[in-house]
Amino acid sequence: MKLFLIYVVGLFCAGVGYGAEVGDFDHVQRNLQSDSTDQPYRTGYHFQPPRNWMNDPNGPFYHNGVYHLFYQYNPYGAVWGNIVWAHSVSYDLINWVNLEDAIYPTGPFDVNGCWSGSATLLPGGKPAIFYTGIDVKNRQVQNLAMPKNTSDPLLREWVKSTHNPLITPPYGTDPNFFRDPTTAWQGEDKAWRLLVGSQIKGRGTAILYKSKDFVSWSMIGSLFNSLAETDMWECPDFYPVGINSMNAVETSDQGEWTKHVLKASFNSHDYYILGNYDMKTDRFSVENDFTVSSSGLRYDYGKFYASKTFYDSAKERRILWGWINESDSKSSDIKKGWSGLQSIPRNVLLSKSGKQLVQWPIKETEKLRAKEVTALSKDLKGGSAVEVLGITAAQADIEVSFETTDLAKAETIDHNSVDPQLLCSSKTASVRGKLGPFGLLALVSEDLKEQTAIYFHVLKKNGKFVVLMCSDQSRSSLMGGLDKTTYGGFVDIDPRHEKISLRSLIDHSIVESFGGKGKTCITARVYPSLAIGNKAHLYVFNNGTVGVKISRLSAWSMKNARIAPISKRRKRKTSN
Ligand code: FRU
Repeated sequence: MKLFLIYVVGLFCAGVGYGAEVGDFDHVQRNLQSDSTDQPYRTGYHFQPPRNWMNDPNGPFYHNGVYHLFYQYNPYGAVWGNIVWAHSVSYDLINWVNLEDAIYPTGPFDVNGCWSGSATLLPGGKPAIFYTGIDVKNRQVQNLAMPKNTSDPLLREWVKSTHNPLITPPYGTDPNFFRDPTTAWQGEDKAWRLLVGSQIKGRGTAILYKSKDFVSWSMIGSLFNSLAETDMWECPDFYPVGINSMNAVETSDQGEWTKHVLKASFNSHDYYILGNYDMKTDRFSVENDFTVSSSGLRYDYGKFYASKTFYDSAKERRILWGWINESDSKSSDIKKGWSGLQSIPRNVLLSKSGKQLVQWPIKETEKLRAKEVTALSKDLKGGSAVEVLGITAAQADIEVSFETTDLAKAETIDHNSVDPQLLCSSKTASVRGKLGPFGLLALVSEDLKEQTAIYFHVLKKNGKFVVLMCSDQSRSSLMGGLDKTTYGGFVDIDPRHEKISLRSLIDHSIVESFGGKGKTCITARVYPSLAIGNKAHLYVFNNGTVGVKISRLSAWSMKNARIAPISKRRKRKTSN
């Protein structure tokens, strides 16, 4: 379809407020109610359970043609509590079937909750899940669960090891800070290793354990002693990535052609560092320590937490999921009856430079695209905006790339203003700059009063060009009581030679954005009161004084993912 763009020149200057094939399921139902007026914030294609609270993605894996996703879930309400592992399966990571809860409290080793953990595929492909149980003394201990019957393609029932708990908090470790075991990996010595997140003497850490038989585990010590002042490292993740390779690497692979990623979740963000891991000595030599400011490496500079990756052997890729928390209040969550989304599954690779990761929505996301509109080579004058018409703006996928020809006009920033989130907070979308802000306005109301802006600034620092990417939620809703923090990160591209690209997945209350082909990601949760359903609009804008060019724009309406609930929740042996 040809692009239908309407120019709204002078928008800024005029100051117009600027600006089931699997199993026995009842029926297949769309990802629920996003059109219904009392549920405007349900998503069309992001994973979420039909109701109640969800947090971390847990133990994803691929087994015999089926993808499994577990997640932290409260079966009884929309706030955190009564935590179990809910379970969903999929053939394509987009359409899902919700099964019965897989892991729930049954014994003294997890009677107070079944918290986060990971799955490992044992030789022969049998999955094994390590999770944190909150035991009868409220200590955090690590437990093992295996499928009851591996010939069940959906692996619906899970049996816990009679040896649980397999790992208890070591002497000197606070039993409240010892959780979230990683996927295990196997060295040449055939011994298994895994990490458990912790905090020692007020600093986050990950403790390495080793086992020959997957049952009896001995502590080796901290994988890496960070000097960064962080809280406890929740949900650590540790995996290899191929250098200069488009294919991912299995978790136990290691060699000169790989680097290792250590991710830790703390201070509400997922931080990562890169380094070389030697499996013979279990030494991890890092390239940099964690940087707590937003100038350091993060998976996402917006809302994205407690993430988990897994190796997908079917497509030789590593897939990342993150929990996208709400930005509204507890009472609004109770009123909505639900809380929490999962990000779109993202493919993770090491960038060509080897200095960072790049992330991109998995290819299967494109199956949901419909009604493409495109534009090529359009000038976008300073102080103008164009509306993208012909698609469902509240449920869309848009890719746009910009060219900047007038780089000499870029604004210079001083040496000290290096925290990109702070820079974005002062350079919001409504503040006129020179080469920027330019980008997208998503979930825009008719009167333009509501809008979520995702944009770039090209700046000059120490004689070099830097590209800043921001997500400004300050006008995302006319409602109060919401977290409207502005987020930001730098994008490692050279605007002299590269186009500045942006892809945003817009889905009613989430805008997941990928700058510089996935080098910098920012996710926002927003709750427009006017820009709802077919009342939402989408614009490309330039609020700088210098013109930029849209070299290419493609946008699509996105279809709903299918989420099929299981017919009945199976009766529990114990109640929570
Ligand atoms: C992270 C986290 C984990 C814990 C789980 C409990 O969001 O706090 O550390 O295992 O959530 O639900």
